[in-house]
Amino acid sequence: MGMKILIVYDSRTGNTEKMAYGVAEGVRGEGVEVEVRRVDEASIDDLPEVDGLIIGSPVYYGQPSSKIKRFLDESVKYHGKLEGKVGGAFASSGGNHSGGETTIISILEALLIHGMVIQGTSGRNHYGPVSVGAPGEEELKTCKLFGARVARLAKLLHKEPEK
Ligand SMILES: Cc1cc2nc3c(=O)[nH]c(=O)nc-3n(C[C@H](O)[C@H](O)[C@H](O)COP(=O)(O)O)c2cc1C
Repeated sequence: MGMKILIVYDSRTGNTEKMAYGVAEGVRGEGVEVEVRRVDEASIDDLPEVDGLIIGSPVYYGQPSSKIKRFLDESVKYHGKLEGKVGGAFASSGGNHSGGETTIISILEALLIHGMVIQGTSGRNHYGPVSVGAPGEEELKTCKLFGARVARLAKLLHKEPEK
């Protein structure tokens, strides 16, 4: 049914990148096409074409990296055009309780302002996956479950364009 989810991530030492590919696996498992792009190679102009946007960032001083923030700022180009698309976020931190959730929430705030739809979970990782350091098997499983959750919501909300 021609659906696509875009995952945009920043990563200097590879941790967030590993998470991004875990999330992608979960999306793909739901039969939804997924594109994974490092933020430097991502284009804002892809946003109107996708059904969902998932953003991953390392935690820098409790916030998304400046590259992710710049991407979000540049997304103003499509302000008003992303209403009803699905959003999600994940983060990689250096320590426990040291900014993972604030980083995710900060990204989700921007996606909500775009009018995007975000699903939390009553299970673990309420706001989205956080991995401390390199993601292990358990964290990658969480990323996969998260990707599947976002994809399922996108499928529910997907409308075929009128012919
Ligand atoms: C500039 C900078 C600021 C950071 N600030 C935090 C922080 O506030 N809290 C934290 O837990 N980790 C912090 N870290 C550690 C990174 O979030 C962590 O190493 C992360 O896994 C890096 O992800 P990456 O491998 O995808 O680059 C910081 C790292 C850098 C380089």
